[in-house]
Amino acid sequence: MAAEACTYVIFGATGNLSRIKLMPAFYHLDVAGQLPEGTKILAIGRREWTQEKWLAEVKEMIQTKIKDAFDESVFEQFAARLHYHFGDLQQPECYSTLAITLEQPQFSPNAAFYLSISPSDFGNVMEQLSKNKLFDEQFGWKRVVIEKPFGYDLESAQALQKRISHYLSEDQIYRIDHYLGKGTVQNVSVFRFANVMLEPLWNRHYIDHIQITHSESIGIGERGGYYDGSGAMRDMLQSHLLQLLTLVLMEPPTSMEAEALRDEKVKVLKSIRPIAKEAVHAHAYRAQYANGTVNGEHVNGYLQESGIPQESITETYASMKLYVDNWRWQGVPMYLRTGKRMKKAQSVISICFRQPPLHFFRDTEIHCMSQNWVLLGIQPEECVRIEMTVKEPGLEMKTRTSSLDASFRNSDEKAIDAYEDLLLDVLKGDRSLFLRFDEVEEAWKIVDPILQTWASERDYVATYPAGSWGPEDSRLFDKESQAWRTSLTPECPNAK
Ligand code: BG6
Repeated sequence: MAAEACTYVIFGATGNLSRIKLMPAFYHLDVAGQLPEGTKILAIGRREWTQEKWLAEVKEMIQTKIKDAFDESVFEQFAARLHYHFGDLQQPECYSTLAITLEQPQFSPNAAFYLSISPSDFGNVMEQLSKNKLFDEQFGWKRVVIEKPFGYDLESAQALQKRISHYLSEDQIYRIDHYLGKGTVQNVSVFRFANVMLEPLWNRHYIDHIQITHSESIGIGERGGYYDGSGAMRDMLQSHLLQLLTLVLMEPPTSMEAEALRDEKVKVLKSIRPIAKEAVHAHAYRAQYANGTVNGEHVNGYLQESGIPQESITETYASMKLYVDNWRWQGVPMYLRTGKRMKKAQSVISICFRQPPLHFFRDTEIHCMSQNWVLLGIQPEECVRIEMTVKEPGLEMKTRTSSLDASFRNSDEKAIDAYEDLLLDVLKGDRSLFLRFDEVEEAWKIVDPILQTWASERDYVATYPAGSWGPEDSRLFDKESQAWRTSLTPECPNAK
């Protein structure tokens, strides 16, 4: 699919996402020669800024992000694509004047509207764009990119979907989950489907359990207003982590084409055993960070963060156990967890294989016989590792764990931010890395019973010290031999 010139209209252009992700991503795409000629980026902003002021703002966003790599002359070329449209998205004039602006010949009739705004505004903004005929595809395509969260729970997601389907057809909607744009996440499918060795083992006969951990050392920063109404389950598990899980568990799609891929992902979500309300405590755990020390620095607890009510029970850590009732995965527990202000920032998918029969070694001195693990490091360490047990050199029969490493990136290969990939896919009309509504709906069905139970239990939430690996939630594990894995290097004591 070729990328076509378009006008990217950014709602929320002065916000955090735009500063740290969108504008730098557009800049990098331009430098790499990936933005088709004629592509413009039109920012919508509530402040009465001039074009010069906007250019100065964007320059600062990019300088902050890329520091010494900033090049004034390259920025000047990029700046020719940038425009500022003054308007308050709550006011109808914002859209009527936008319609007039977009009629100018310098703007391509293809338009992508990027909604990096509060989810409560999604419906109104789309209604106004539709009223002003800005979704009319007579002269060019019109697409809408919607940031997460898509809804607050199942019911609100369905209501939002119903509303926006009055204005747009499904193929105009790009529901973004930026995890799908990460190179290491796409590598999960390549690792599984381009290598024959693991496929025969990738099932309940050989896999003991699967874990996905996304931990962050940062707190909620200035996002208290959003985060307190969301919590870790909605913010990370319902979206990014369930998406990662589908890629690990899905059957091989017939092609990489959007519908084929989404069909397989949705089948996984539909196969997840619903968690009955009475079983929520056996399947999920929540906690909130208390003050503590992160990277040698004393930090506040969640309740001391700005904008957080004293009585808040919003979770900053959430974990859950799921079972997938299909032929491949029946009986294999899947453990997912995420937390803010944890010891270390990392995202890892860890696949633990079953113990081999140990009878053969019964008369030996073997003290450590680890299970095999496959570790897929998503970030910051990007790697694929397979842990094997090998004999230690020497006269005795002792073993240690050795790791086969298929690194994702060579040192001279540049990292590409997920948003670069996704912004370009919108220009190409490739929706394979965006979510179809049934995926969003199924994901809400999985977490809704947990959220409802937690919402009704308002008198207590466990805490964990900032800078730790989170609360004690080992009761989620099915067996004593199962525990959260925190390291990408072999955990066996005499490992090398
Ligand atoms: C966002 C969440 O979707 O993903 C944030 O709202 C979280 O709370 C972020 O920090 C994590 O993304 P990444 O790419 O930094 O791992």
